[in-house]
Amino acid sequence: MSSVTVRVPAKVNVQLSVGPLREDGYHDLVNVFHAVSIFDEVVAKESESITVQVTGDWSDQVPTDGSNLAIRAAQALAKHAGRTYGADLVIKKAIPVAGGMAGGSADAAGALVACNELWGLGLPLEDLMEIAGDLGSDVPFSLMGGTAVGTGRGEQLCELPTGGTFHWVFAPADGGLSTANVYAECDRLREESGVEVSWPKLNDSLMEALGTGDVYALGSHLSNDLQVAALNLRPDLAATLDAGRQHGALGAIVSGSGPTCAFLAIDATHARDLAGSLTATGAARTAVAAHGPVQGAILV
Ligand code: C5P
Repeated sequence: MSSVTVRVPAKVNVQLSVGPLREDGYHDLVNVFHAVSIFDEVVAKESESITVQVTGDWSDQVPTDGSNLAIRAAQALAKHAGRTYGADLVIKKAIPVAGGMAGGSADAAGALVACNELWGLGLPLEDLMEIAGDLGSDVPFSLMGGTAVGTGRGEQLCELPTGGTFHWVFAPADGGLSTANVYAECDRLREESGVEVSWPKLNDSLMEALGTGDVYALGSHLSNDLQVAALNLRPDLAATLDAGRQHGALGAIVSGSGPTCAFLAIDATHARDLAGSLTATGAARTAVAAHGPVQGAILV
């Protein structure tokens, strides 16, 4: 096989509850991931060494050296297989970079699936999930897709059944936010307020809304503990969220660590209208309609 193509989705967090800071620098989470139909594509071609090239939206913001998460994923897979392998990776980006939608994690997951196939390793998903967890907290979910609750630092996943398709609008913001900086800001604000941080719990009403496909209930139960921190670092996002609510979004939240804003729409038509209104009024420079859940990294 000389070339393999994999498609990987973005995610939004419909619940992101952040527990106290752990000794290893991470936080225990209850993280309800939902994969949505904005996709990066990862192509892997036979080669002597492991390289990466990035094309498409936002591509100038992605490093192509050894810090690139897709390169690190391919290297980790080769190490797991105990051999030296090469692959030229070409990533076609549509997921915002440093946008809170797991774009880097998606590319790492895509590289794992692509190289597993290109190199004929035939490793089962469980092995790829284990390698993924070492690469980053969100990488296992990018492999799995669908809707799932992540505990631990977000890498221990349990699939959640959903009762339908949900329609969303995503408004990427100019300039990214570093996930580590947003968590640090969250810790700083918590310390400043002196409030004791409680252990994160799954929201039963949110589970019910997902299970029954009740979009109105889902809209009212969306939550993100990182939102206050993200808004503190990017105060301009508050106006974007407000504009979405004014245009009838059933829920408006920062996606993960931001700065992308996520809006839940009533249906596909409403999502298209909402995206149009956000850009026409200048509340967002771009706005993309998408739906979820969708499946994780797949060969195409
Ligand atoms: O796991 P990942 O590399 O994506 O995490 C990036 C950063 O986000 C970590 O270095 C950490 O600062 C923060 N983080 C956290 N708690 C988590 C996940 C991520 O504090 N559960």
